[in-house]
Amino acid sequence: MTKGQFPTAKFQDIQTPFYYYDTELLRETLRAINSEAQKHEGFCVHYAVKANANPRILRIIREAGLGADCVSGGEIEASVRAGFPSSKIVYAGVGKSDWEINLGLENDIFCFNVESIPELEVINELATAKGKVARVAFRLNPNVGAHTHANITTGLAENKFGIDMRDMLKVIEEAQSMANVKVVGLHFHIGSQILDMGDFEALCNRVNELQLELERHCIKVDHINVGGGLGIDYQHPNRVSIPDFKSYFDTYAKKLKLRPGQTLHFELGRAVVAQCGSLITRTLYIKEGSVKKFAIVDAGFTDLIRPALYQAYHKIENISSEEEPDTYDVVGPICESTDVFAKQIDLNRAHRGDLLAIRSAGAYGEIMASQYNCRRLPKGYMSDEI
Ligand SMILES: Cc1ncc(COP(=O)(O)O)c(C=O)c1O
Repeated sequence: MTKGQFPTAKFQDIQTPFYYYDTELLRETLRAINSEAQKHEGFCVHYAVKANANPRILRIIREAGLGADCVSGGEIEASVRAGFPSSKIVYAGVGKSDWEINLGLENDIFCFNVESIPELEVINELATAKGKVARVAFRLNPNVGAHTHANITTGLAENKFGIDMRDMLKVIEEAQSMANVKVVGLHFHIGSQILDMGDFEALCNRVNELQLELERHCIKVDHINVGGGLGIDYQHPNRVSIPDFKSYFDTYAKKLKLRPGQTLHFELGRAVVAQCGSLITRTLYIKEGSVKKFAIVDAGFTDLIRPALYQAYHKIENISSEEEPDTYDVVGPICESTDVFAKQIDLNRAHRGDLLAIRSAGAYGEIMASQYNCRRLPKGYMSDEI
């Protein structure tokens, strides 16, 4: 099967809508990540489980040797179930509940990425109760903007994430006075779907400044974690099916001044899984309005929320028809006017029953599905099992 071609005949008996994952592409993507990251000493890549926690996807990623970046107790459980070693699990999030912190402690995870002093105090308290020492990294808000959608920037002073840089020393000194936490790192994450390497370069410059300041106070950390954020090409899922990992890792290797023995951690989500997944949906009706044609499909924003939530673009293909293209709004069945996948796009002429593939949906797709309107959750199928 060449890239972007679908085994449409095999799809006929599967209940739509469903996610279809090209496991060959996922493995190829993971090979590209490993081969580019391993060119640089001390680079450790974690997979941001929030992008897709399908157990079979997690297993393939774990087999490739990546660590797991979790943002909830549920994600820690999913990662442990998929076989990720606790020594490669990091746990971030602005609002960690006590049971989630305890779960991290019981599993002896690699590191808690801490976002506030009250959280640090609770971690210290819970670790004391268990007679453990929690490894922590501080998530600092670097006040670095990213050229991406406003809803997915996270590194600006106005965002809720991270600790203000001006408080960095105070927080580290406070942590150093606590018996049951050990400061091992600094953590950052400036946003998602970032394609301009200049944004990552700006983060590197900020990290370099912060490290110098820490050194002036004789503080050293074992690792720097720069989060994720590398974007993908939603316009051309076939032509650019593997993101530019070379430029991404090379930017950090050139611009971030690691100290001897320090490791550099990454938390990539979208770039790992987005292109291998497609949402397959069936055309229910073609409705001819007075000004446009609608292709009404059986998937809705409950299955893939990105277009409704972020006005995100996903390429859509009619994989059942070779007919001349026609122009459609592709809409779902949910009783909300935001339930639109695309407006005025060209598709090979569509008929009732045709299957459409909504591309680049492997990240923030299946995992964000909901049951609004009492709809069923979409299932996920792997290319090597159907
Ligand atoms: C802390 C953190 N790390 C990693 C990621 C993964 O980002 P991406 O999927 O853009 O690589 C996110 C996404 O929001 C995040 O908040």
